[in-house]
Amino acid sequence: MAEPLLKPALVQIAREIDASFDALLPLSGDARDRLAEAMRYAAIGGGKRMRPLLLAATAGMFGVDRTSAIRAGTAIEAIHVYSLIHDDLPAMDDDDLRHGKPTVHKAFDEATAVLAGDALHAFAFEVLSDPAMSGDPFVRIELVRTLACASGLHGMAGGQMMDIAAENGGFDLQAVTRLQQLKTGALLAAAVEMGAILGRLPADGRTPLRGYARDIGLAFQIADDLLDAEGDEASAGKALRKDAAAGKETFVSLLGLERAREQARRLVDQAVQHLSHFGQEADLLREVARFIIERDH
Ligand code: IPE
Ligand code: IPE
Ligand code: MG
Ligand code: MG
Ligand code: MG
Repeated sequence: MAEPLLKPALVQIAREIDASFDALLPLSGDARDRLAEAMRYAAIGGGKRMRPLLLAATAGMFGVDRTSAIRAGTAIEAIHVYSLIHDDLPAMDDDDLRHGKPTVHKAFDEATAVLAGDALHAFAFEVLSDPAMSGDPFVRIELVRTLACASGLHGMAGGQMMDIAAENGGFDLQAVTRLQQLKTGALLAAAVEMGAILGRLPADGRTPLRGYARDIGLAFQIADDLLDAEGDEASAGKALRKDAAAGKETFVSLLGLERAREQARRLVDQAVQHLSHFGQEADLLREVARFIIERDH
């Protein structure tokens, strides 16, 4: 299927998020520069920027100004980047390569990598709670709470804990689904939710968007697991074949490649169906859903 909106949108969001990190993470000119440099090394260039893209695509449906969407997108990407820095540490996945370059603890050192993650975590909430984010304090607090809930025990960090436990086996399909929803789904869902918050969408109007976000969140992690099993390391820019080596239960280990692929496709179809009562304004979200399972990185 043709994806006329997606390609330019990916290029544009990458440029905007890079520029935003560059502006918001200046060097301090003292001994903290090593930390700021590590944060910039991890945050600028590299990732697909899926979370800012989802946030901006949703916000764009409701006429939110681009500057606000990029600011909130920078905050959620900071959480994502921090999660990757810590995920790559020797204590976790022990990876040497991310986005085609040495991981932060390799390029700097472990202590700096821990601190860069910590500081990016805090940075996200500095950015969201700044009056420059929105003149409305109710909007700011809702953004902060949404991102906080998606990041902690009930979101990404909780999912990462379950992911470590999944190396010991004993996780069935239901448990792996829960794990993936927390580890990956929560932040992707928060991206869509934050776009809706900026668009001042009432809670009941958010239901179809939440359905969309839940389905693509799961499809996204199934795609990551499929990439791990059969992807190309050069395109992915990170080490692959790690899940099976760690004995980790994933959709791929439980369902096999073909059924995992089918399940991801089904989830994407379902995600797109949730958008059925929107018109052309949701086309970018539809294209993002398809890209999630067609990507090679
Ligand atoms: C990778 O996420 C880790 C997961 C949560 C599955 P992404 O595939 O979004 O990472 P980048 O930032 O685009 O590399
Ligand atoms: C990481 O999942 C998810 C995070 C919350 C960072 P993975 O460990 O599968 O991500 P990759 O494969 O290293 O990108
Ligand atoms: Mg991991
Ligand atoms: Mg990893
Ligand atoms: Mg992975």
